[in-house]
Amino acid sequence: MPCDALKAISASALLMVDIDPWSSQVSTDYGRIIEQFGLESIPLARLPNPSMHHRRGIIFAHRDLSNILQAHSRGEPFGVMTGLMPSGKMHLGHKMVIDQVRWFQEQGADVTIAVADLEANATRGYSLADCRKIALEEYITNYVAMGLDPNRTNIYFQSMRPIVQRMGFTLGKRTNLSELEAIYGFKGDANLAHVQAPLVQAGDILHPQLEEYGGLRPIVVPVGVDQDPHIRLCRGLAGKTNWFNVNERKNGGLRITVSVMDENQNIVSGDKTTTKAVFSRIVDALKHLGYSDIMADAKHGIVDLPAATQSDRYPIRMSLLKLERDMGGPGLLQPSSTYHRFAVGMTGGKMSSSMPETTIFLNEDLKKMEKKFKRSFSGGQSTIEEHRRLGGNPDIDVAFQYLKFFFEEDDTSLEEVRRGYISGDILSGEMKKMTIEKAAAWLTELDEMREQNAHLVKEILASDAI
Ligand code: TRP
Repeated sequence: MPCDALKAISASALLMVDIDPWSSQVSTDYGRIIEQFGLESIPLARLPNPSMHHRRGIIFAHRDLSNILQAHSRGEPFGVMTGLMPSGKMHLGHKMVIDQVRWFQEQGADVTIAVADLEANATRGYSLADCRKIALEEYITNYVAMGLDPNRTNIYFQSMRPIVQRMGFTLGKRTNLSELEAIYGFKGDANLAHVQAPLVQAGDILHPQLEEYGGLRPIVVPVGVDQDPHIRLCRGLAGKTNWFNVNERKNGGLRITVSVMDENQNIVSGDKTTTKAVFSRIVDALKHLGYSDIMADAKHGIVDLPAATQSDRYPIRMSLLKLERDMGGPGLLQPSSTYHRFAVGMTGGKMSSSMPETTIFLNEDLKKMEKKFKRSFSGGQSTIEEHRRLGGNPDIDVAFQYLKFFFEEDDTSLEEVRRGYISGDILSGEMKKMTIEKAAAWLTELDEMREQNAHLVKEILASDAI
């Protein structure tokens, strides 16, 4: 085999490892990730009340976030969705996702959270009863302590919401083994529960759009970038169910086409009269958007909107999905997503719940927390003299990184600390001490809130989760 071909294969294999959501190795080349996966950078200026994670570039990319922003600015409903794997203990890495869920909730989103008990049962061997216990005691207790509003949050169990499994099953029709192989690197020995888990997860992500769960509205899933394979799969599955497509038109504007498939061929195609009627329904569905020109060409199966711009995609898409629903289709909008960077693990590598020394648990004993920071990877010099002379490197200093990712909300204070460290005014030990103090205050307050809000755990559960 020619050397170049080999190189190409090993590069794509490497990529596969990088993005495997079950792998423990994660690439940190974020620029490359944006490019390779076709993500978009976060439009900071367009965000209402950007959080510290946005301001610091920690949430660095998205797909279709503009759907959410448009719904927000029009005062239309939108939702945020995440899931938890009920295994192990909740740690700082999990906190970051919940911070984002809370931020979307503060901007007006309703919240849906899946307890992935089926996934944990099938892929990690926990009993459903264990999953429930872990979810309640380890995760949900912390969610209410961290301030998720129980009145606008629904937490459910995969095993207790059959529609999610049913959706996962029926969506399976829109993909095949080769695609799953390409996305996840599954081989012939892949456990079928592992193969099904992403489909059930697609059911998790898409079901909030069903009428019983809030109806058609954009749903955003904030994830770590390692979870993008799931998002891509889910977006692909949803897209393949769509009866109407919105594409760029060559001569400017947007073009709508109809997808004929098993489910709709009796409705959208057939004799001339049927086709004509469908196209006049499309035109009717778009009339309220106020275009002077809507050019329907039933014969060629297209509707052109020469004056439509990129930002019109969202209202057009929503109108077409509504029409699809009226005509008996599922009308599913592809989910939006945002991507966050990972904080470095405390020992300098990856943060992982299976290696307790790499992170802080949300119920960590203060002494243990202190010990972990004292032992944590430092970006300082080996002697005080050298440190004063050369300064430290905040980019690789765990204590500083944890201020930035988790504990220092104030940008000005953070910047002062950063400069102080670089100049050598702040020593490594002092940096660690500052972080330990902030972390202790946060853990102590969280502990109080867990107690204070314990009664909300039942309230935050969906009615089918009790
Ligand atoms: N698979 C996710 C994990 O390992 C959990 C999960 C299940 C999830 N369903 C979801 C995450 C839906 C986001 C959206 O943590």
